[in-house]
Amino acid sequence: MLKIAHRGAKGYEPENTKAAFLKALDMQVDGIELDVQLTADGEVIVFHDDTLDRMTNGKGLVSAFKLAELYSFSIAEKHQIPTLQEVLDVVDTKCFLNIELKNTGSCSRVVALIEAAVLVKKWTYQHFIVSSFDWNALREISLLNPKIPIGVLTENNLDLALTFAETIQAKAIHPHYHLLDAENTKKIQDKGFLVFPWTVNETADIDRLKRYQVNGIITDYPDRI
Ligand code: G3P
Ligand code: CA
Repeated sequence: MLKIAHRGAKGYEPENTKAAFLKALDMQVDGIELDVQLTADGEVIVFHDDTLDRMTNGKGLVSAFKLAELYSFSIAEKHQIPTLQEVLDVVDTKCFLNIELKNTGSCSRVVALIEAAVLVKKWTYQHFIVSSFDWNALREISLLNPKIPIGVLTENNLDLALTFAETIQAKAIHPHYHLLDAENTKKIQDKGFLVFPWTVNETADIDRLKRYQVNGIITDYPDRI
């Protein structure tokens, strides 16, 4: 049962910040889920929303800003939006990374960063799983580099996700946890896929999913697993 921190240890530190990732490592997670998107100048940053408004002291579309401009905004007064490369350096292979693509445009850049990490550092492809609700983006990743493990995200249709996972030879299905029961968990696993439900925060739900023997749980509170 793998313990996977959602946007870092989001329950304890501001999401998708270095502090949240360090907190997750303190909690001895097996993996960290994070969200990525492209800046106006083509850098891959770790940030969930389309706009700056909820999480930072800035306003407007994230994709309208260059990286240097984004560095001038703060999260909860003391954190900066990190780049994916900065997170790779902070995590330093201490756990695997579930990189969720929030926009299609980032595919080739994300693949290049993973390939560079594997080539020049001690990362391996097994330290990564790229996921997205945008299945076209997942198909693009699998075409760009079939060695990169893929997780198919779904909020509402397990069967469709399973069929798609077969076509791109994905590693895992990442369903909203409400979609799962003991029977369909086993069905997915019998077809050779891992099952990583999200975002499971209540102890009763965590216990139920443990009974289904899912392969890992994505949670804001890794210490509850
Ligand atoms: O990857 C699972 C989960 O993170 C998907 O939803 O909105 O938290 O990115 P969201
Ligand atoms: Ca996410």
